[in-house]
Amino acid sequence: MVSRIPTGISGMDNLIEGGIPYNSAVTVTGATGCGKTILASQFIAEGIARKEHCKYISLEQRPEEIKEDAKEFGWDFTAAEEDGIVKVLYIPPFAKGNFVDRVMNELMDEDIDRVVIDPVSTILGYYEGNQYQMRNFFYKLVNRIKEMGTTALFTTEIPETAGNSALSRFNIEEFVVDGVITLYYSGMESGAFRSVEVRKMRRTDHTPGSYPFKIKRKKGIEVIDKKL
Ligand SMILES: Nc1ncnc2c1ncn2[C@@H]1O[C@H](COP(=O)(O)OP(=O)(O)OP(=O)(O)O)[C@@H](O)[C@H]1O
Ligand SMILES: [Mg+2]
Repeated sequence: MVSRIPTGISGMDNLIEGGIPYNSAVTVTGATGCGKTILASQFIAEGIARKEHCKYISLEQRPEEIKEDAKEFGWDFTAAEEDGIVKVLYIPPFAKGNFVDRVMNELMDEDIDRVVIDPVSTILGYYEGNQYQMRNFFYKLVNRIKEMGTTALFTTEIPETAGNSALSRFNIEEFVVDGVITLYYSGMESGAFRSVEVRKMRRTDHTPGSYPFKIKRKKGIEVIDKKL
């Protein structure tokens, strides 16, 4: 039987047989403001609640922001950091060689149960124009995670251009990973709503289709058990 890592997101684990397969890598994709960072933080909050060792590698937002935002949802990353359960890191993407090595080094740790890289597209962007190198690097990153016994969640954005049906920023992220969770923001003005679809989850009989979700203060993401 596949051992699973619950995401902790209400209504979401039901869609994936109870959680993400242990030691797999999953990408969360979606346009800006869809809730990728909140979902990633909730995944870490669940790890903290289970006393697992967690690492949040932020490549865009400063750790103070990640921690303050998490607090809004009732997740105290600061206290967990003091307890040595979680580490929230910011690795600024200034110099390529140094940056890539720093991210890879942070993963070189068999003690990490859950890791988030938010957004992984920042690091993949260094290989823009060379799909072969980009894919190769991403394989290396995913393999590092597998070797270390870590379960990973990466975020990547979908550019919001007309008629864009892409699943990710560079169109490679979805192939290399074991799972893809896509977040949508649809409709307009007061009719706008959010939804989530598990697009792929290897070793999992995942529920097909899109499910609406809400982002709630003090709770985080709640997926509603009512297919669109
Ligand atoms: N406390 C809150 N209560 C309800 N909704 C919130 C709250 N905080 C943020 N949101 C919603 O979540 C959105 C931001 O979510 P998040 O930062 O996870 O998006 P993202 O997909 O990571 O975006 P980006 O690609 O720009 O990083 C906000 O635009 C807002 O709609
Ligand atoms: Mg984000």
